Amino acid sequence: GRKFVVGGNWKMNGDKNQINEIVNNLKKGPLDPNVEVVIGVPAIYLAYVKSILPDTISASAQNCWKSAKGAFTGEISPAMIKDVGCEWVILGHSERRAIFGEKDDLVAEKVAHALESGLKVIACIGETLEEREAGKTEEVVFRQTKALIPAIGSNWDKVVLAYEPVWAIGTGKTASPQQAQEVHAALRNWLATNVSAEVAAAVRIQYGGSVTSANAKELAAAADIDGFLVGGASLKPEFVDIVNAKQ
Ligand code: 13P
Repeated sequence: GRKFVVGGNWKMNGDKNQINEIVNNLKKGPLDPNVEVVIGVPAIYLAYVKSILPDTISASAQNCWKSAKGAFTGEISPAMIKDVGCEWVILGHSERRAIFGEKDDLVAEKVAHALESGLKVIACIGETLEEREAGKTEEVVFRQTKALIPAIGSNWDKVVLAYEPVWAIGTGKTASPQQAQEVHAALRNWLATNVSAEVAAAVRIQYGGSVTSANAKELAAAADIDGFLVGGASLKPEFVDIVNAKQ
């Protein structure tokens, strides 16, 4: 079976006081031991969070560059993320794509380098409202995933896919369990054809977009939803309930 995996993407939020509160709350839990928990921390706080986080919870960067070091002012590398004891990076988030202009090919280069460097990757995909309304949801999600196939190579066991419809991110408009399940199942089916049956069966696909403690249980019950990538609610005590939403 696929181990349920819940990510908390803090985005550009939190200061040391708030981080202490969030981590204390996670320590108090209790967190379902059958669920993998990964928190996505602003780069500047990764080392600090790692120093106060229990070993049972992983810390992730929210972005990185596509090479190990060099003249790339302002960037961080997978090697640096690993050096401060973290194992994960979130790549291709819709905010990186929309605000910072990251295209499929750059996301793929980042994914390739992160995996080669030994990081695990949460790779984000998802359609905009315009694309959904034009009936292009699957076309977009398949295109974004296709770009990752050569980058991932034989490292699918180090990758979690996060389906995050852009119209559901930060809007309070979550995809219904049916809407999310439909895309997750279509994507898994597409992976069976375009990668392998083994990868399709094993890869974990998270849902992200306005996940809260109020809607997490129903979403978690969908057959092809293997976890969540949580933004706003990951800063709140209810994140514990989201981690524990899988029955
Ligand atoms: P919200 O949970 O705030 O909608 O954000 C989702 C997200 O973008 C997680 O990466």
